[in-house]
Amino acid sequence: MGKKALSQILEWFSDVGVSDVTSNISSLNRETKREASTLAELKEVISKVDISLKKCALNMVFGVGNEKADILLLGEAPGAEEDKQGIPFVGQSGQLLDKILAAVGLDRTKVYITNILPWRPPGNRTPSNQEIDLFRPYVLKHISLINPKIVVCLGGTAAKALLQTTVGIMQLRGKWTKVDGLSARIIPTFHPAYLLRSPSQKREVWLDFLNVVGAL
Ligand code: URA
Repeated sequence: MGKKALSQILEWFSDVGVSDVTSNISSLNRETKREASTLAELKEVISKVDISLKKCALNMVFGVGNEKADILLLGEAPGAEEDKQGIPFVGQSGQLLDKILAAVGLDRTKVYITNILPWRPPGNRTPSNQEIDLFRPYVLKHISLINPKIVVCLGGTAAKALLQTTVGIMQLRGKWTKVDGLSARIIPTFHPAYLLRSPSQKREVWLDFLNVVGAL
């Protein structure tokens, strides 16, 4: 809706005596700006997002790790085990992720981990474009609050969502990039779940993480 149409509507409401419309809108804007200046506030805001996804989930999965980390790992969405525990990457993929981190001298105390979606999609389906569009602003806020130097996108869904691209992970992997609104450098790599199915690609991910550590 254009500005003119919006102001006509507001004028009409004001004419018919609904005088609190404009103040409601500006207080809503103030609210949106005010909300989430800390991780705890962001968690609270996200927990109130009205989406059917959360009705199928056991727990909201927000983030874990060092809140002052230079490296933030961004996954896709919680799986069954993450849904049970409310913590990202604690299932099979998470165990492999821990090994990848250890191989380059990192561990969970040195990184922060979160996902594009905070709730498990039913049956572990891929997040829909609508869900990604809904949560992307929260992901950007989440990253800004941590303020890492580097964001590693784990897998194609996280990379496509953050970078707003349709380019596949095979082409994005290992290439540094940036997005508007974030100071961090971003590097996509393969998702640990993909490595469980295609172990021959582990070397590429190891090289990407060496690249990350070397860039700090
Ligand atoms: N896969 C993800 O992308 N995120 C998790 O938290 C677990 C598995």
